[in-house]
Amino acid sequence: MRQLIIAGNWKMHKNIQEALEFLQELRGKLDSTPVEAVVCPPFTALAPVAEALKGSNIALGAQNMHWEKQGAYTGEVSPLMLREIGCKYVILGHSERRQYFGETDESVNKKVKAALEHGLVPIICVGETLDQREAGITEQVVATQTTGALEGLTPGQVAGLVIAYEPVWAIGTGKTASEKDAQQVNRYIRKVIADQYGAAAAEAVRIQYGGSVKPGNARALMSQPDIDGALVGGASLQVDDFVGIIENSL
Ligand code: G3P
Repeated sequence: MRQLIIAGNWKMHKNIQEALEFLQELRGKLDSTPVEAVVCPPFTALAPVAEALKGSNIALGAQNMHWEKQGAYTGEVSPLMLREIGCKYVILGHSERRQYFGETDESVNKKVKAALEHGLVPIICVGETLDQREAGITEQVVATQTTGALEGLTPGQVAGLVIAYEPVWAIGTGKTASEKDAQQVNRYIRKVIADQYGAAAAEAVRIQYGGSVKPGNARALMSQPDIDGALVGGASLQVDDFVGIIENSL
């Protein structure tokens, strides 16, 4: 059985004080949940949030990183720095990074390898734009992004990953993919992985859905056999919504 993983991607929201207030309210509300909860604050809040999460069952994730350990890369943050702070996860290849910051399948692949090398678990985002969905090439797009991101990995490494299927048209728009459509794409991603890395890796890899997930649609989405959690943006910024999504996932 794959453990559900619900991660909050705060994007460029919350200063340190707001982050700490959020965690103070959140802590204690998830003590007995069987769901793996993750918060992914902006870089500036990672260290204080790591401190505030000590002794809790909530994991910490970053939203991006560079693939090099160190060097002359102004403005970048390395996997070692994330590990030092206490991150377990790192979101890689989010569509906003692909769209605004030139992230490619090749750079995502380098980052995935670097994350694994340094003991971080990548949450790899894939997903089609509205134009691509309307052109009927959703499967082709997610297959290319998935195989590109995973190139050169062993089946054992793939088994431990998290992939987030986030249709770009559903992000921050209030338009959620229907549970049927999301399930269909998640199942397809699992098949792509099975074909390349074998059944055991495909059975083990966790595949989230992301895009306007809310407490009200969490149950329908999470009850699908190939949806193993959610990557939540807007609704992860309010404690009640984030907890509501986690509670309704079961
Ligand atoms: O990474 C999460 C994300 O892009 C979804 O955002 O606001 O639609 O939940 P949102």
